[in-house]
Amino acid sequence: MLVISIILICITAIAFYTSPKKFKDSYISKFNDKFSKYFRTPNSTPASSRKPSYSSNEPLKDPTPLMITPDQVKNYDDRPWRPFRWPYHQTMSIFKLDMNHWLDMDKYYWRYIEEKKRIWMTYGKENIDWLPEGYEPSFELMQIVTDHMLKRYPLLFTLVEDKGEAGGKIVYNELTKETLDMTLPLKEQPLLYVSKMAKEDFYVVLKNPKDDLHYLVAAAVPFPGGSFGIDSKLGQHLDVIHEDVPYYKEKLKRSMERWFDRLTPNDPVERASWYISWDHKLKVNNVYQLPKFVPDLKADMESMDPKDFNVRVERQTLRKLPKSGAIIFTNHPVFYSIEEMKDEPLVPSLIRKILYEGPQDIIKYKNFDFFRDYIVGYLDSLVKRQIDLGIISEDTPLKTLPTYPFAHWSKTDFDLVNGWNNPKEKVNYLQKAKEEKVHKNQ
Ligand code: HEM
Repeated sequence: MLVISIILICITAIAFYTSPKKFKDSYISKFNDKFSKYFRTPNSTPASSRKPSYSSNEPLKDPTPLMITPDQVKNYDDRPWRPFRWPYHQTMSIFKLDMNHWLDMDKYYWRYIEEKKRIWMTYGKENIDWLPEGYEPSFELMQIVTDHMLKRYPLLFTLVEDKGEAGGKIVYNELTKETLDMTLPLKEQPLLYVSKMAKEDFYVVLKNPKDDLHYLVAAAVPFPGGSFGIDSKLGQHLDVIHEDVPYYKEKLKRSMERWFDRLTPNDPVERASWYISWDHKLKVNNVYQLPKFVPDLKADMESMDPKDFNVRVERQTLRKLPKSGAIIFTNHPVFYSIEEMKDEPLVPSLIRKILYEGPQDIIKYKNFDFFRDYIVGYLDSLVKRQIDLGIISEDTPLKTLPTYPFAHWSKTDFDLVNGWNNPKEKVNYLQKAKEEKVHKNQ
């Protein structure tokens, strides 16, 4: 019996390995579809450092100095995010974060910092606010961001004066030409200094020992993208904040709670999600506009060329601070036009598939059904173009890119000087963004 089983297994294996490639691909693809929920999607760059990590005893190392000058930042790009997954399930999809990339630099730095100032002056506590218990962790965050910027970008941030732990620091931001006097007593709330150094949104979360739940205690979030203010989230716990998030209760809540409980200061992680809009606004994207501000959103959308539609990647990181134990969640928008990704294998096909066949509640949450019929002809033309150019074939299995969450052309040996410029399309959308019509709440 045993001998017969072994012979049968051998015959099956030989038949599989000698079968046509097309059969093998479709078999492997079906296998992946069925079992992918049990595996983390393979990803790129470099494979060893991007494995998900839940606990590590190794203390965080100082970041490696990146010797870029303010002039070089003008041509510098964020890493090329392509977080398109198929099959698409709501999962935590977190990866170990290389701390060198905690607060990345790119050529839009000035725009983010200026926008932060404008939003603070115009909207104040709607976007930046804190509870009394949020002060101490915000102060620790300010110290950690300062230290990170000085060590990671020695030519972009310089130390003017160090009065020690009890006295604070004065730092010069070479990019904005601003002196940040963080000597004690502080003249402003710590999150405002953080917002003058880093272009990310920051959420400060503390565990309440009374109920063991995690609460948002301070936040500097000028770029929520959607129509929510931080005033509606401050003081709430994570379940309430994620109340409207599709499949949160069924798919995310338990794993998030378990993960938060195990998180140590040595395990920073990152993740990325995305949606689509037809603008580059940072505070509220057109796709999430409300009728009271834009009564005819459909006309607004259809006034655009489908080529002007952008993927807004929400690049997020999570880390725990060593002293206060607060969890710091950062969120940062990075825009890519569909046009600039048009010759990247499978990208238009993946976007099209997700817009129409992704989980129904996610389609609603991201308003895909509002604009997808308007751009589908364009997406179809891009898919056809890829087939005509031989970039993909009709039979190429539609699935998550092997380099997920980054572009297929991204190098694993990160180019320290030039950043991650798309080798085919040199993009700078600043002029376009300036010309966009601004609605009252943006
Ligand atoms: C591993 C941890 C976390 C996971 C997996 C997660 C997941 C998600 C997901 C899936 C969404 C829906 C939008 C998207 O597709 O990304 C979302 C929205 C959001 N998350 Fe989280 N999140 C995490 C941690 C946090 C933390 C620590 C905060 C801090 C308060 C936070 C604040 C928010 C906010 C404000 C929204 C937008 C909600 C809205 O649309 O009204 N998240 N999150």
